[in-house]
Amino acid sequence: MFTRRSFLVGSTALMAANPMMAAAQPRGNILRASTANMRLLPADYPETGIWGFGGTMPGTEIRVKKGDPVQVTLENDLPQATSIHWHGIKIDNAMDGVSGLTQAAVPTGQSFNYDFVAPDAGTYWYHAHNRSFEQVARGLYGALIVEEREALDIDREEVLVLDDWILDPQTGQIDSNFDATHARSHAGRIGNFVATNGIAGLSLSAQKNERLRLRIINAANARLFELRLDGLEGWTVALDGMPLDTPEAFAGSIILGPAQRADLIVDVVAEPGETANLVRIDQQEGFSQVAFEVNGQASVTRRASPAALPPNDHQMVDLANARVFNLLMEGGAMGGLRTAYYQGKNLSFRQLVEAGQFWAFNGSADGLDGVPLAELARGETARLTIYNDTSFPHAMHLHGMHFHEVLENDVLGPLRDTSLIFGGESREIAFVADNPGKWLFHCHMLSHAASGMMTRVLVS
Ligand code: C2O
Ligand code: CU
Repeated sequence: MFTRRSFLVGSTALMAANPMMAAAQPRGNILRASTANMRLLPADYPETGIWGFGGTMPGTEIRVKKGDPVQVTLENDLPQATSIHWHGIKIDNAMDGVSGLTQAAVPTGQSFNYDFVAPDAGTYWYHAHNRSFEQVARGLYGALIVEEREALDIDREEVLVLDDWILDPQTGQIDSNFDATHARSHAGRIGNFVATNGIAGLSLSAQKNERLRLRIINAANARLFELRLDGLEGWTVALDGMPLDTPEAFAGSIILGPAQRADLIVDVVAEPGETANLVRIDQQEGFSQVAFEVNGQASVTRRASPAALPPNDHQMVDLANARVFNLLMEGGAMGGLRTAYYQGKNLSFRQLVEAGQFWAFNGSADGLDGVPLAELARGETARLTIYNDTSFPHAMHLHGMHFHEVLENDVLGPLRDTSLIFGGESREIAFVADNPGKWLFHCHMLSHAASGMMTRVLVS
């Protein structure tokens, strides 16, 4: 019999990619959040205890077509309350999954029905949004793929979820000091073990001349992934799910901050018998993040730039009539933060540190309880200048709406949902407030979000 359990354990695609089959699925597939053991390290180590959606890490892949409903019942078998945020989806606010803002966290043993439409094609992901700094680090995330309705001229695609963990070298277990002061006050929780789809040194087979779409997702709490191609030639065709107007030839490297995604279309140019690689650069050194063992040759050679992905509908920002806002990011180790408001009091940096807070947005460390950054009328354009006056990079994520990065001379850069801003850098973003609700705007270095780097944007 087809039990719920076998459905979850045995399938990698929660939603059928085929619309005929999707229609036949019962409403609300079960997605059970539970503890599990996984083999991350070689066989002479113990298995690693994780928390996973569907008992795996990454969690069960969810795949639908553009415009289709996503109906998922979260069942919480974890020892903690949890919720699911559908990162990058222009979603109904009540389905956004932010515990403490859009819903109450789902207690152990209880369930919650998520039911929304995925309006835009692209590479998205979902993750726990209660105690994210712990729950995402334990493995509560998965890929959410919204396919274009049109077929693309590619041979196949690979979903590559990148992450790192702090593993104890003796026990092989995930370090449970999720609250560590160093992570909160410095660059965030950076792991000592890196993998793709939960597999260190992931190796895939490929053929020379094959054209692949790589859907790359940075699911790490804080690590920046700088990636290069070796034996592959390609184009960036989408960032944070949203298609670029024109595919951009991949040259040099791309940096993905936490929560950012890139879709690359790559041709395998390495010869049969050779290995092509997605290379990760760490401290100027290259490591194979994903190896492609070339074991044959495909008959078709493309090599010409692929067509742009079909665009998603998006309202044009009206920069001339935009409401202007500023966000000053301060704090952290080696920063200049002297005082900030916290729970109604003006505290010195030392007092903030004693209260476990290290960062401030516009002089406040109140996070979710603070004054909202912006209150916007539906349809208004907001233009926000963010200044990162700290010594660390931050990956700022807006829920519910994609924004443009505004480049020099008001040229609109790509649409994104997460913007990586280095220390001392400023960034302008602009978006149409076309999705009503209470939207979180926070640093996706999750230890930072938990210690002051969080605010809200309200759209009426
Ligand atoms: Cu991907 Cu508020 O998060
Ligand atoms: Cu940050």
